[in-house]
Amino acid sequence: MATKGGVITREFVVSDYDGAIALWNGVEGVEICEGDSREEIAEYLKKNPRLSRVAEADGKIVGVALCSHDGRRGWIYHLAVAPAYRRRKVGKLLLGDCVQGLRTLGLKRAIILVAGDNPAGHQFWLRNGWEDIGGAIAMTREL
Ligand SMILES: CC(C)(COP(=O)(O)OP(=O)(O)OC[C@H]1O[C@@H](n2cnc3c(N)ncnc32)[C@H](O)[C@@H]1OP(=O)(O)O)[C@@H](O)C(=O)NCCC(=O)NCCS
Repeated sequence: MATKGGVITREFVVSDYDGAIALWNGVEGVEICEGDSREEIAEYLKKNPRLSRVAEADGKIVGVALCSHDGRRGWIYHLAVAPAYRRRKVGKLLLGDCVQGLRTLGLKRAIILVAGDNPAGHQFWLRNGWEDIGGAIAMTREL
């Protein structure tokens, strides 16, 4: 658990789902998509124990980060902080927890995807030591 100015971070457990969805729905820059149903998140948390985090303050969830790995790279998704709690290092705290959890498992590198129309989110990652993947084009397909 990490703490900062009345905010604590702890493991994301299934019962945090409703609070997390409410937070994600209330912010720009996070898109609820495939993999985000309650059952899917429960499975994700089971497969990646202890890596995903929430921040709590004033009795509610004010920050969330999903974190996992595929055995080779760490992945962080849906990092979000409630607008009223921004610029108080809550995002940094959650990110630090995720990175530490991945390091503890022996992972050497992590990847995140930032939407092209989220310049503020991009700035946050740059500010926290992340770099663009030069020459790479992110691709996907439905399975
Ligand atoms: C991005 C987000 C998680 C940042 O959370 P936060 O708690 O406000 O960030 P922090 O206070 O921990 O900031 C950590 C550092 O990032 C910097 N930072 C935070 N937001 C920034 C922004 N919009 N532009 C530039 N720098 C920013 C801070 O200045 C701080 O820098 P410092 O440590 O050098 O002083 C939050 O703005 C958010 O939820 N945005 C909407 C969702 C989103 O876009 N998520 C990212 C998806 S890829």
